[in-house]
Amino acid sequence: MRDIARGWHVDGCTIGLVPTMGALHAGHMSLVDAARRENDRVVVSVFVNPIQFGPGEDLDSYPRSPERDVSMLRAAGVDAVYKPSVADMYPPRASTRVIVHDVTERLEGAARPGHFEGVATVVTKLVAATFADRAYFGQKDAQQVAVVRRLAADLDLGVEIRVCPTVREADGLALSSRNSYLSGPEREAAVCLSRALARAAEAYGRGERDPERLRTILREPIEAEPLARLDYAEVVDPSTFSTPGSLAVLAVRIGRTRLIDNHDLNVAYPG
Ligand code: PAJ
Repeated sequence: MRDIARGWHVDGCTIGLVPTMGALHAGHMSLVDAARRENDRVVVSVFVNPIQFGPGEDLDSYPRSPERDVSMLRAAGVDAVYKPSVADMYPPRASTRVIVHDVTERLEGAARPGHFEGVATVVTKLVAATFADRAYFGQKDAQQVAVVRRLAADLDLGVEIRVCPTVREADGLALSSRNSYLSGPEREAAVCLSRALARAAEAYGRGERDPERLRTILREPIEAEPLARLDYAEVVDPSTFSTPGSLAVLAVRIGRTRLIDNHDLNVAYPG
């Protein structure tokens, strides 16, 4: 990967990187399209990164569709698909980890210890391997965006972090590889996340600014859904993930599936 990317770099081409864990859907492809528009060369990495999964999480059952991924990426006109093996990325003696402090200690970071350390480490390695000028991330994983922005700035990675809007199903559910875990009734219940974000955006649009009121409005539709269990619901600052702020963030368990979503309350909720 380095040899190919170095060649492009030496030839004066700009390189866009889209890091993914595969099982590609229209959310991933929107990042690929943005990268295609803004760069001379596009690399998509497909790597289910074991170190960002905690014990008891879904590493082994994480959905995989390698042939389909490659054919979607070929059809989208990407220049390279980078698929390192776990042994390539983490040989037995590898012992370096990238740790971003503060923003990683809250919400998603608190719920999933070690998760963002795994993300920061793999993103650093992928940027180094691809000579990326720009790297593309989805707003769907808002705290991941905050972490990689911090990482890129703090380590002078020289990569511009580009963020693309969350792609949703018609009923508002954010596309996610993990949606494939949902049973029929769970899929119906999952609409409570986008409903909660819509309610909070509506209230904010009417002028509601009381953090406690906003939090309650965000929680209500989750608590009203019998199949859903609230992990967290907060309104936070989008860079630090501390309160107060105007980014509504949610983590909800539906059966065995943990879903996250978010919405900037300064923007009217779509639909
Ligand atoms: P993964 O979950 O495969 O997501 C890859 C990228 O697609 C992330 O930037 C994510 O935010 C974006 N994405 C997912 N669903 C989206 C949606 N509905 N709309 C827009 N973008 C969406 O996130 C990861 O992988 C990993 O943590 C990774 C960054 C690859 C590091 O291992």
